[in-house]
Amino acid sequence: MSDGWSRRTLAAQALGRIDEETRALIRPIQLSSTFIRDPDNLYRGGNSYGRPDNDTVRDAEAVIGALEGAAATLVFGSGMSAAIALFLSLGAGAHVVAPRAMYYGVRTWLIDEAPALGLKVDFADAEDLAGLERAVKPGETKLLWLETPSNPLWGVTDIEGAAQIAHATGALVGVDSTCATPVFTRPLALGADVVMHSATKYLNGHSDLIAGALGFARDDALCARVRQIRKSMGLILHPFEAFLLTRGLRTLDLRVRASAMNAMALAQRLSNHGAVSAVLYPGLPHHPGHEVARRQMRGGFGGMLSIRVRGGAEAAIAAAARVTLWKRATSLGGVESLIEHRASIEGDGSPCPPDLLRLSVGVEDVVDLWRDLDQALGG
Ligand SMILES: Cc1ncc(COP(=O)(O)O)c(C=O)c1O
Repeated sequence: MSDGWSRRTLAAQALGRIDEETRALIRPIQLSSTFIRDPDNLYRGGNSYGRPDNDTVRDAEAVIGALEGAAATLVFGSGMSAAIALFLSLGAGAHVVAPRAMYYGVRTWLIDEAPALGLKVDFADAEDLAGLERAVKPGETKLLWLETPSNPLWGVTDIEGAAQIAHATGALVGVDSTCATPVFTRPLALGADVVMHSATKYLNGHSDLIAGALGFARDDALCARVRQIRKSMGLILHPFEAFLLTRGLRTLDLRVRASAMNAMALAQRLSNHGAVSAVLYPGLPHHPGHEVARRQMRGGFGGMLSIRVRGGAEAAIAAAARVTLWKRATSLGGVESLIEHRASIEGDGSPCPPDLLRLSVGVEDVVDLWRDLDQALGG
């Protein structure tokens, strides 16, 4: 598809790729695990075996790459495997700086498993550039890992500022941009070297697959190493899921903007709710990361927010028990709204307060979403 179309347009048409053989508008799912070798022993089609090669996966990668402005994109069987492949690519002995507040699955892996694999990990307050500067060790830190807005406290990190700090010391920057989505933030354009997504969430948007993605600023040795890890460990996404992911990506822009509008309306109303002691949403002017978010998140503040419920953990769990429209479930980024008592899933060591409910705001009628939340919180 020619240059100059907006990212929303490119995604809506999945870059305009069709099936050249049949002229079908929607490309078929390529399921073959193996490919014919030419008589002269070459693989001219570019595919040899399904563990490294799949055209349906490449279709999803091309759309994500266009949305993120990536030089190369790799899609994985989960967000976790995408992130872990990147960490593993750094090699034993590498030092990593990660945020104190971040998705608990990645944090838990960095604490419990990464050290046994030779990675040295330090945690820092990523909302504070001075704190990041203190944590990064010149010449030693290989990767500064960021997540913004961070799940589930929705702290905001200044990607551009953090990238300047990291690059001055020779470290790379990787950003988990799952909750910002490429609709609102493009980390590579802000100086990051790698952008990561749990594509399970907004990129797919329909709560019906698990997938991950890494977009690289350069198609370089780092990307080649991660590609090799994906190949040797068999971390590639299955073609069925890759097809669904591309289908979801077509409506990413519409879904994410609708969710963010609903989230903003709910955040404002919840700020005046008697049962709520705090609303955590970067779109609210009093949020500590609001000014950075205004600069960094173009066009919206995302569809995720959290509330702290007066009365503590028990009151929060009781409120979640009373919803009828919202769904009590983990995960986020789908078209349907989810509510979750986050401390119950994160366990010990989590910075998540016990009175916190995380809201993944979907695309339903915001009047209905409010009515159900309001009654659940006790009117
Ligand atoms: C911000 C964030 N990053 C990474 C992940 C992990 O992704 P997956 O569940 O697709 O492995 C999640 C999942 O909840 C997430 O919310």
